[in-house]
Amino acid sequence: MPASPSATPDHIKDVNTRYHDAAAGSYDEKWGIDFGRNGRRQVESKVNKALGYLPDRPFGDALEIGAGTGYFSLNLAAGGLIQNVTASDISPGMLSSLSETAERLAVPVRTAVCEAEVLPFDDASFDLVLGHAVLHHIPDLDRAFAEFFRVLRPGGLIVFCGEPSRHGDRLAMLPKLAGSVAAPAWRRLIRARPLEHSEQQKADDEYSLEPEVDVHSFSPDELRAMTLRAGFTSTRVRGEELVANLWGWVTRSMEATAEPETVPRWWRHFAFRSYLSVQKIDSRVLEPHLPPELFYNLLLSAGKAA
Ligand SMILES: C[S@@+](CC[C@H](N)C(=O)[O-])C[C@H]1O[C@@H](n2cnc3c(N)ncnc32)[C@H](O)[C@@H]1O
Repeated sequence: MPASPSATPDHIKDVNTRYHDAAAGSYDEKWGIDFGRNGRRQVESKVNKALGYLPDRPFGDALEIGAGTGYFSLNLAAGGLIQNVTASDISPGMLSSLSETAERLAVPVRTAVCEAEVLPFDDASFDLVLGHAVLHHIPDLDRAFAEFFRVLRPGGLIVFCGEPSRHGDRLAMLPKLAGSVAAPAWRRLIRARPLEHSEQQKADDEYSLEPEVDVHSFSPDELRAMTLRAGFTSTRVRGEELVANLWGWVTRSMEATAEPETVPRWWRHFAFRSYLSVQKIDSRVLEPHLPPELFYNLLLSAGKAA
C-alpha cells in the first residue's frame, strides 16, 4: 500500500479529506457499520484484545482520531466504556454524519475538524486517545504520536485498532481479485443489476484514489518503535482477522459491482452473519496462537507513565 512517490503530505491530506467527504453518505452501508448490539460487541472485543483486558471502569475523557462516522467511539460510549467523547477527523463530511448518528443514539459528543499531526487541544486533557483504521492515512506518524502523547494525561492510554499489517495488505489482493472474477456469476445468482456505467466509473475513480489515501501498512515492530520514540511505555501489539478478512473482501468486491438497491436483503444478511461466524474461527483458534504479523489487522495499545 505505498503512497505514490510524488505525493506530498499536503496532497495526501487533501485527497483524504475529499475522498472521505465524498464517501461519508454511504460509508456505513459500504462497510457494514453497525451501531447496535453487534457494533458494541465488536468494538469492546477490539479494546479487550488491544489492552489485554476490558477496563471495569469507563474512561473519562476520550479523544478519537479519524473518527469517521463514529464506529469506534460512539459504540464504546453507547456501551458505557467512555464517558465523554471528543471525535476528531480531517473530513467535515464524516463528522457531520457522525453527529447525526450521535444524536440518534443520544450520545453527547464534541467534534473537531483537525488533522492528527496538529491537535487543537491543551496538554494533558484526555484519559484515552483512540482510533480505528486511521494511522495508515497519516503522513507524519512520529508527529502524530507526539501529539497523542502531549494531549494525554499521565496514566492515560492509547488504543489503535484496525491497522493494516504489511502481510495482510498483500494477502487481501487475492480475495479482491477472486471477488471481481466471481462477480458476474454472483449477480446472476442473486438477480442483482450491474452498476450503471456512471456509477461504475465513480467506483473505479474511488478505487483509483485508494493508493493516494492509504499511505502505510505496518509490521508490529514498526508500531512498537513509533510508540517508544514518542515516550510511551507498556506497548502491546496484537493481530486480528485472517480468514474473516479473506471472506469479507470477497463479498465486498462482489457487492461493489452491483446496484446497491438490487442486492437482496437475504444476501446482505447472509454475508454479514457468515462474516461474524468466520470471525470466530480467527478469534478462538488462530489469534491466540499465531504471531500478529500474519493477520490482516494490527491492534496497538500503550501508556503514558503516571
Ligand atoms: C478508513 S476511515 C476510518 C473511519 C472510522 N475510524 C472507522 O473505523 O469507521 C479513516 C478516517 O481517517 C480520517 N483521516 C484521514 N487522514 C487523516 C489525518 N491526517 N488526520 C485526521 N484524520 C484523518 C478520514 O477522514 C477518515 O474519516
